[in-house]
Amino acid sequence: MQVLAGKPVAELIRERLRQEVAKLRERGIAPSLHAILVGNDPASSVYVRAKAKACQELGFAAQTHHLPAETQPEDLFHLISSLNRDAQVDGILLQLPLPSHLPTPQFLSRIAPEKDVDGFHPENVGLLWQGRPRFVPCTPAGIMELFRFYGVELAGKRVVVVGRSDIVGKPMAALLLAAHATVTIAHSKTPNLEAVCQEAEVLVVAAGKPALIRAAHVRPGAVVVDVGVNRVEDKAWVMRLFPGDQERLAELHKKGYTLVGDVAYSEVAEKVRALTPVPGGVGPLTIAQLLANTLHACRLRRG
Ligand code: GUN
Repeated sequence: MQVLAGKPVAELIRERLRQEVAKLRERGIAPSLHAILVGNDPASSVYVRAKAKACQELGFAAQTHHLPAETQPEDLFHLISSLNRDAQVDGILLQLPLPSHLPTPQFLSRIAPEKDVDGFHPENVGLLWQGRPRFVPCTPAGIMELFRFYGVELAGKRVVVVGRSDIVGKPMAALLLAAHATVTIAHSKTPNLEAVCQEAEVLVVAAGKPALIRAAHVRPGAVVVDVGVNRVEDKAWVMRLFPGDQERLAELHKKGYTLVGDVAYSEVAEKVRALTPVPGGVGPLTIAQLLANTLHACRLRRG
């Protein structure tokens, strides 16, 4: 079984970005990413900090706009509009999820499409499905880089995507279709998920449910990508799913939780050809791809 680690792929992307940003900086241009974080969701705070750190390491200019959880819609609209107008701002990222009183689609539509480095604006979603992508959502774009790096063939293959989110499942399906795969999107209302997943030569799981995919779901020899990042606090559950994994138990003891994917790693690993770990699989690629999109945004506007 091959472990599809994300780090070496991310490091290649980061090295390319480092060089290209250095060249732009010689011309007095520093590509800039502005992240908006509303409220104090712990996972979102971790992501936004990781994004800012990656920006610093690669020479991007980064700023985080942290707004209180009770921010009113007009204040968020106002901030987005001012970033849209600011010629120094290349990329705008609105960290999701937003607090429930803020209607996500309206805010995503308000971000200038040429600064929409997440690729969530309807214009960019449309371009992706038309096969002429401008900004590709970062996680699916990173997974495509992973497939390229490890030589995973997609043309003519039966691929099942579990999960239909706007962030991962739907754009993932668009990219796989463009790569000539036969694509099925399964989700929480799909009857007999096991039988559907067993068809998959390549299985991409982005359901947000810890260890949803068990050995019985996978075809022997399949390639499996696990996008899930779930906090699990139950020690008995962890010991059942990760027998003998002392590192994980130590993490649970120290932090009060351990990060677990949507795939039951140990039992699925015994059956498949290749599998991404959690953490260390898809995660590092998402941020690398975000910075690639920010560089692209900078080039689109500033040449
Ligand atoms: N929340 C979880 N994933 C993402 C992402 O890729 N982009 C944004 N903006 N928010 C997220």
